[in-house]
Amino acid sequence: MDISHKGKVFFVKLLRHRALQDGVSNYEVLVNSLKSSPNFVSVDVINTKNNVVFVLQIYPLEDSTLRVKLNEKNPIYPRFEEPYALLDTIKGTKYEISDSSADGFTLLFGDSRAVIKFKPLKIDAYQGSTHVVSVNSRGLLKFEHYRKKPGESDGAPAEGEENPNKVDERAQDEEETDLDGLWEETFKGHTDTKPRGPSSIGVDINFIGSKQVYGIPEHADSFKLKDTSSGDPYRLYNLDVFEYELDNPMALYGSVPVIISHTSKITAGIFWHNAAETWVDVKYLPDKNVVSSLTGLFSGSENEIPQASTRWISEAGIVDLFIMLGNRPMDVFRQYAKLTGTTNLPPMFSLGYHQSRWNYNDEEDVQQVHDNFDKYNLPLDVIWLDIEHTDGKRYFTWDKHKFPHPIEMTTNLTARGRKLVNIVDPHIKKDSNYFFYQENHDLDYYVKTKDGNEYEEVDGKLVLKVSGGVGLERLVTSILQIIAAREHYINTYSLDRYQGSTLDTFIWNDMNEPSVFNGPEITMQKDNIHPGLGVEHREMHNVNGLLFLIVVSFYCSLKHSATYEGLLRRSNGKLRPFVLTRAHYSGTQRTSAVWTGDNTAEWGHLRISVPMLLSLSVTGITQVGSDVGGFFGSPDDHLLSRWYQAAAYSTFFRAHAHIDTKRREPWLFDVETLNIIREALRDHYRILPYMYTLFYENEVIGAPPIRPLWVEFPSDETTFDIDYEYMLGPSLLVRPIVDEGAVTGSVYFPHGQWYDLKDLSVFTGPSTQTVAAPRDKIPVYVRGGRILPRKDRTRRSSILMREDPYTIYVALDIDGKAEGSLYIDDEHTMEYKSLKFLYLHFNFEGGILSSRIIDPLGRYLSKSWIERVVILGLKNEPSKVTMSSSSGTKTLETAFEKSKTGSGTKLVVRKPGINIGETFTLTLH
Ligand code: NOJ
Repeated sequence: MDISHKGKVFFVKLLRHRALQDGVSNYEVLVNSLKSSPNFVSVDVINTKNNVVFVLQIYPLEDSTLRVKLNEKNPIYPRFEEPYALLDTIKGTKYEISDSSADGFTLLFGDSRAVIKFKPLKIDAYQGSTHVVSVNSRGLLKFEHYRKKPGESDGAPAEGEENPNKVDERAQDEEETDLDGLWEETFKGHTDTKPRGPSSIGVDINFIGSKQVYGIPEHADSFKLKDTSSGDPYRLYNLDVFEYELDNPMALYGSVPVIISHTSKITAGIFWHNAAETWVDVKYLPDKNVVSSLTGLFSGSENEIPQASTRWISEAGIVDLFIMLGNRPMDVFRQYAKLTGTTNLPPMFSLGYHQSRWNYNDEEDVQQVHDNFDKYNLPLDVIWLDIEHTDGKRYFTWDKHKFPHPIEMTTNLTARGRKLVNIVDPHIKKDSNYFFYQENHDLDYYVKTKDGNEYEEVDGKLVLKVSGGVGLERLVTSILQIIAAREHYINTYSLDRYQGSTLDTFIWNDMNEPSVFNGPEITMQKDNIHPGLGVEHREMHNVNGLLFLIVVSFYCSLKHSATYEGLLRRSNGKLRPFVLTRAHYSGTQRTSAVWTGDNTAEWGHLRISVPMLLSLSVTGITQVGSDVGGFFGSPDDHLLSRWYQAAAYSTFFRAHAHIDTKRREPWLFDVETLNIIREALRDHYRILPYMYTLFYENEVIGAPPIRPLWVEFPSDETTFDIDYEYMLGPSLLVRPIVDEGAVTGSVYFPHGQWYDLKDLSVFTGPSTQTVAAPRDKIPVYVRGGRILPRKDRTRRSSILMREDPYTIYVALDIDGKAEGSLYIDDEHTMEYKSLKFLYLHFNFEGGILSSRIIDPLGRYLSKSWIERVVILGLKNEPSKVTMSSSSGTKTLETAFEKSKTGSGTKLVVRKPGINIGETFTLTLH
């Protein structure tokens, strides 16, 4: 059985787990081992088949979250505990133990509780009285303890001493004779020597009452996870996959081991905090009594209800499970945000449009792209330079012939409000004339082979650099050296060291899975050792991308990416960094945007981009996008323009293409296509104030800007399977057209009124309707009941819109009410962290629109004013509209329009002319 279509990969440990049948678990809690301390309780757990003892620790955390850790009591090697993803601010909560007996006990914390059963071990977590999650109820827990290789000295205990790791001979034999691969695995000529032998862990985690689970990016697959009972499990192993396939659970560039379950009654999530290669099986058990007939383990009413059963298997590490008990979608997002953080408010330019290709050839090329965006009236914020801009792939340098005046080139961009992003890969050219190579060599920061030579990736040309994490951790032997290496890397971004860069140069970290061209599956060998941490690469592979970004020292409490930190420090902490990364893990969201890697110019890849972005978003990674047009191949005009329309509602909007593809800047297509692309870009820029507000709310409460319909309509079961449309925040319903030749789209409208801003049509939900979607139209609707602030003047870039006036769209619900928020600050500095912001709430009720300041501590003086208020869904035209503020009351000019075909109406109130920060009431008479 192949786990990946790319070939038979290391999967023997997976089979050892999958061979386990549902049944009674052989893991039991040792009675009388219960100990409690202020933050957690612990018990000893024994594998009754081989008498190996484990320690189970249960930490009740604030905000209805439970942490469950299971580790060997006396491992012969320390087992790796991933230290980078979690925030240092996670807080425990008070708890009580009740019902303690020889059968188990209950932990009470907040409104939640966990019931721990001893024989066999089972943990049931409840939110209030609702049973939400059950761990090991199918009995699939399997924890492979470290052991000595048969035949090798086993460091046997002294006479009379009990060996804590003594293994029952029968169990050991069973494991070793049944399956090979315990002590060595081979894949396509690469041998994983596995000196520490088997070390995998696995357990079932079940969502009671659920029929749908989501998450575990990154896979090019549906948003709702599929039942994997008769196929391959979802694989989480960061890989640089060439031409990835669609609708496939194969591993891609990132791994976020988070699953969210949603039902009309409860939403909950789990974070499997483990950085080794991981597989996830999903089994939906919908029918009455199915579970009990399989296992006999469920009792009482649980037999009658569906279960979304997930099974997690990791090659190494420990069981470290966070259970987020919800109970609504936003609660789970907030609970997860408390564990791994949220995205720092991105600078506004990064939410604008990005033009990239591998490669813009030289300064002249950059200039003509830049000029043409103006010539064709296309907004643009950033131009990107791929690897060819460097002097022979020496990052932090420039090709002197093609880019002789990088500062002047960048200044030309910034003069018209634009920025530059340069790529920095984790490969360093071995060349003693290259400053970055030589410095790291002199400082001895490189990855080393077993014989102490610098680790060379391909043809003796490339070595992984210190910032790759792998390099850093492999070599360094002291914390001081880690700090020094991190500092060295951070300082490389200072303007004097990174010559030719300016404060307007931002960074793209690519290939950080790590992509290693001569390694197994194009990545790092698993048996490499990281001496600094004393662990094997297998234990921490999936966190490498985060390391690349972090280069964590254990004292770096912010756990920020070194790249991010470098960009921050070069401006003395004043300006917001922007970093794009390809590899990702939980926590990546704190400092980076993520894109979906090397997709293809095909309709299927456009289609799959929607569920891929949804999966990333609900697991915390919120500034996300796909290469517009597709990386490989050449899109035709239809595909390209549909891609622009779809990406205009994503949170990272970048066109990018492979070096071998035809040029595809918008003006190279016919006028119709160019016009469609221009309109898509303008649509995107118009909603930037709204998107920016969503990112502020994301930073504060973890709410993802791109969200599935069920986040907004949690009890509407029809939404649970929908991943062809989504909500951008609470106010916009987006239905990208992703089928070749389609000129209509089937749209599901959840409960309420839905307004098409372009043609005054109104739809009422719940209903599924076929809407017209000619080439120049993407179905997008404003939700009745929401107020959407926009900036409708179109400019060359977002920076030029900063002081532009607002248009406030008020879309009424059936009761004639609406509300919304707007966040404003200077859009590029860190000053918002010191309260230099304005956070407003708008309300419309009883014919009156009013504004108020949500956070009175915020004080930012915006220069923008309100130039228009547009009210959708009024039944009748008001006789007059007045505006009252501190400067008095005045009557405003209006225009009322009725749809010729339907019931839609639009009232345009002209020039309220008030500063956006001033409170006002606008009254319809
Ligand atoms: C792989 C990246 O995914 C792609 O976007 C980039 O253009 C190439 N590397 C070259 O740097």
